[in-house]
Amino acid sequence: MAVKLEIDGKEAEVEKGKTILEAAKEAGIDIPTLCYHPALEPFGACRLCSVEIEKRGRKKVVTACNYPVEEGLVVNTKSNGIIAIRKMLLELLLARCPEEGKIQSLASEYGIVKPRFKLEDERCILCGLCTRVCEELVGVSAINIINRGVERAIGTPYLELSDDCIGCGSCALVCPTEAIKREKNIYPTTAEDIREIEDGYLEGGRDEELGVYSDLIAGKTSVDGQDGGMVTSLLISGMENNFFDAALVVRREEGYKAEAVVVEDVEGIRSARGTKYLHVPMMSKLMDALKEGRRRIAVVGTACEVRAVRKIQQQWDLERDFPGVEIIILGLFCFESFDYEGLKEETKRKFGIDLDKADKTQITAGKYIVTVGGEDYTCDVREFENVVREGCPYCDDFVSRLADISIGSVGSSDGYSTVIVRSKIGKRLLDTTEFIKAEVDKKEVVKLVRFKNKRADRNFARILEGLEA
Ligand SMILES: Cc1cc2nc3c(=O)[nH]c(=O)nc-3n(C[C@H](O)[C@H](O)[C@H](O)COP(=O)(O)OP(=O)(O)OC[C@H]3O[C@@H](n4cnc5c(N)ncnc54)[C@H](O)[C@@H]3O)c2cc1C
Ligand code: SF4
Ligand code: SF4
Ligand code: FES
Repeated sequence: MAVKLEIDGKEAEVEKGKTILEAAKEAGIDIPTLCYHPALEPFGACRLCSVEIEKRGRKKVVTACNYPVEEGLVVNTKSNGIIAIRKMLLELLLARCPEEGKIQSLASEYGIVKPRFKLEDERCILCGLCTRVCEELVGVSAINIINRGVERAIGTPYLELSDDCIGCGSCALVCPTEAIKREKNIYPTTAEDIREIEDGYLEGGRDEELGVYSDLIAGKTSVDGQDGGMVTSLLISGMENNFFDAALVVRREEGYKAEAVVVEDVEGIRSARGTKYLHVPMMSKLMDALKEGRRRIAVVGTACEVRAVRKIQQQWDLERDFPGVEIIILGLFCFESFDYEGLKEETKRKFGIDLDKADKTQITAGKYIVTVGGEDYTCDVREFENVVREGCPYCDDFVSRLADISIGSVGSSDGYSTVIVRSKIGKRLLDTTEFIKAEVDKKEVVKLVRFKNKRADRNFARILEGLEA
């Protein structure tokens, strides 16, 4: 049903349920906004979109981004009163965030160059775009608005390192200021960050699909691992050759449930063999290990975990806090991970078996395979789509581009792991490891890289379109 209203003296006809902001946009009338994004629930935080409405002879000021159109409504977006409100709001914002380009340019549009109030040096305007994109679209909720009153801020729970953030960068994309890029407890990895990390830590040719690398090989070892046992063998060799003293690995602890643990011997490394297709919190464990005095650590993780570790290396002064720190990163290929409870329930529903009793799980060539008591149960992995971990559809890194060495299965024959060498230390680690070498079918790896990128691009398109709107 259509609704007729008047905006700045122009007649407009829009669908019922739309907001004044949407109606104005359709009528070609520009209303400034700071906390609005069309793909997110309206928040009404910045009040910059304030407009004057008149109904039944009474006037009042409302926020256009969340006020629904009504039949016969008269809207004035540029009255003297409204301009004064926006000026006041922008003056306050400029006083709070004097260095922010977006605020500076909006303020100057309204004739404010220097605020009359005392200057703070904040970056965040508390528009809530980052927390909403993370919660409503990505589905991760790594950050929230914390504290009350003047103490209000954006942060992780208890301001601790996030174990949930996947480093997708959506928050940095929607943030109208530089604030979220400076946040240290989450890992929004922007294109510039990726470039900087590649330049700072990696070595080799730059390949659009596989990232920076110097070698791409298949390897099989004597370890009975998930694929060729390369991860376990690299870790054992690295520890025996004094590349590191400890490794942060993921081990099954209770049934299929897994935990990140720090191991300091070969037995510990072996105990973590095999893939658990789950998201396992790692960052808090890494930080605990550093605080407990470990300094030379190998970390094995999926691309999101690799990003998190690299962001910390890039942003924190780790050497100051933990002198002598050396972190070697082994990244796993990853298309997606699953929620433990969901995977267990779906496995039971589909095959009537208990995931906790699985000898092994495997996802290969689009099939999910669970082995229990020597018997394989298999189906199309897409049948488990509903239990994919929140956030994975926004992740665009299949090959752990930022690791020192990346390992996966796609591209190699059965019983082999695909290995991508990305740094000097990654190369030295591989050189000290015994394995049988074979060829990789690069096309197969590239196919999955592109497939995953397309999925992420589709999701990011909604965010980008909203920014351009
Ligand atoms: C969630 C997930 C999804 C994956 N998806 C793909 C894919 O789509 N295509 C592909 O080619 N490869 C994928 N892999 C990688 C693949 O399953 C193997 O891990 C890789 O080939 C190494 O095999 P390996 O025999 O060398 O490992 P192993 O020698 O058996 O060692 C496995 C290592 O993986 C670590 N690990 C196990 N589970 C996790 C976890 N949940 N998080 C972090 N570390 C873990 C352990 O700490 C262990 O050190 C995925 C891995 C994970 C964890
Ligand atoms: S990077 Fe992604 S997951 Fe992390 S806080 Fe930002 S939006 Fe959330
Ligand atoms: S797809 Fe894999 S690497 Fe990406 S967020 Fe999910 S678990 Fe992490
Ligand atoms: S854009 Fe409407 S209140 Fe911020």
